[in-house]
Amino acid sequence: MNRIKLLIVINLITVAIVFFFYDTFKIKHQNKKFSSINESINALYLKNFAEENVTRIDYNVWLIYTKVGVDSPLKFKFQNLIENILNVSTVFIKFHVIVDSNSRKIALAQFTNVSSHSKNPFKWYFYDINEVSNIMLDIVEVLTPHFSSKPGTYYSDALFYISLGLYRVAPADQDIAVMLDCDLYFKDDILLLFKEFDWFKSDALFGLAPELTPVYRHVLHKYRLSTNTTFGSYYNSTSIISHLPHPNGFQGYNSGVVLLNLRRIRESKVYSKVLSKSVVDYLVQKYMFKGHLGDQDFYTLLGYEYPNLIQTLECGFNRQLCTWWKYHGYSDVFDKYFKCKHPIIVLHGNCNTKILS
Ligand SMILES: *[C@@H]1O[C@H](CO)[C@@H](O)[C@H](O)[C@H]1NC(C)=O
Ligand SMILES: *[C@@H]1O[C@H](CO)[C@@H](O)[C@H](O)[C@H]1NC(C)=O
Ligand SMILES: *[C@@H]1O[C@H](CO)[C@@H](O)[C@H](O)[C@H]1NC(C)=O
Ligand SMILES: *[C@@H]1O[C@H](CO)[C@@H](O)[C@H](O)[C@H]1NC(C)=O
Ligand SMILES: *[C@@H]1O[C@H](CO)[C@@H](O)[C@H](O)[C@H]1NC(C)=O
Ligand SMILES: *[C@@H]1O[C@H](CO)[C@@H](O)[C@H](O)[C@H]1NC(C)=O
Repeated sequence: MNRIKLLIVINLITVAIVFFFYDTFKIKHQNKKFSSINESINALYLKNFAEENVTRIDYNVWLIYTKVGVDSPLKFKFQNLIENILNVSTVFIKFHVIVDSNSRKIALAQFTNVSSHSKNPFKWYFYDINEVSNIMLDIVEVLTPHFSSKPGTYYSDALFYISLGLYRVAPADQDIAVMLDCDLYFKDDILLLFKEFDWFKSDALFGLAPELTPVYRHVLHKYRLSTNTTFGSYYNSTSIISHLPHPNGFQGYNSGVVLLNLRRIRESKVYSKVLSKSVVDYLVQKYMFKGHLGDQDFYTLLGYEYPNLIQTLECGFNRQLCTWWKYHGYSDVFDKYFKCKHPIIVLHGNCNTKILS
């Protein structure tokens, strides 16, 4: 009898130990600390700024900066963007940059360079791409088969989906953030972009501007033949903002500028469901969708089925310039997709289009 009691006690202890370690592991996993260096170098510049204006809200800007060569175009785009944003903005910005070890060195030199002559104070933080991709492997695994042109290796796949797992990377006290491509040019204050959070629908987790080419008309070709949908059709109205989801067409989304309500994403019960393999596989099948543009394919698909989760921004917040589709089978309708009547806040030189600001 005693032996059985002993066995039960041992069993209970084992269970307790397993739970303890499981819990410890989980917490560690979620609050993973990312090392950042030289983040306080700009404390000096804080003096120029009134405390109330610095601390009222965080202006968190996320960038991905990997595989940078000494002379690569990305290197120049990156420094230009940092300088450009600081030039036109009135708020205290925190740059959060996802880097590999080589890009980190280059970025550090560039931040230091910019901070030596910038009139605006700012801070920066680095996050290692290997750590970042490791904590979103599950997301990448679900999405890569459907939204990557040629699934690759190492962290290269993760690069296309980082905005979707950013809530696991960003410090827990970060409530809102924007994630940007490096091929952007801000014509106006980044504060205007952050003000868009105030207009978010009560369920909206992300904010994105429309894709300005017929790429999703192309992707939905088969689906459109089988139904009378307006998904994939151009916006047939001057304003795309409406109380109705997707009135008069839906061009899909472009992920060059992504607004993230990180707090809502963390608390959302729906979000992990829509990112599950079963839901993604179902949506892809339903819309006969084969994409190649990474996270923006997922946002677009989400827009079909769960429009309340995404806030559509006006085109001026991500005025894309790529005209590739105009010369590849869509010359007749291209301009209808490409039009943007809204005042331009952000220009996006996608597909290597030169920005003539
Ligand atoms: C931090 O900045 C200082 C001064 O610019 C520099 O000497 C140092 O090497 C930097 N630290 C690291 C870890 O890069
Ligand atoms: C804080 O910012 C506002 C505008 O953003 C400006 O008008 C005001 O002068 C600033 N306050 C201080 C103390 O600098
Ligand atoms: C930022 O402003 C400075 C001073 O007006 C200007 O010389 C520089 O070209 C601007 N940089 C960018 C990237 O817009
Ligand atoms: C800072 O960057 C600019 C633009 O790339 C470059 O022309 C300049 O020489 C750099 N300054 C320093 C001190 O490295
Ligand atoms: C699509 O529209 C056509 C013409 O308006 C109509 O005849 C047809 O029934 C519609 N099909 C579906 C599936 O709604
Ligand atoms: C735009 O939508 C209206 C009604 O929603 C329709 O009457 C009109 O034909 C549409 N125009 C185009 C160019 O699709």
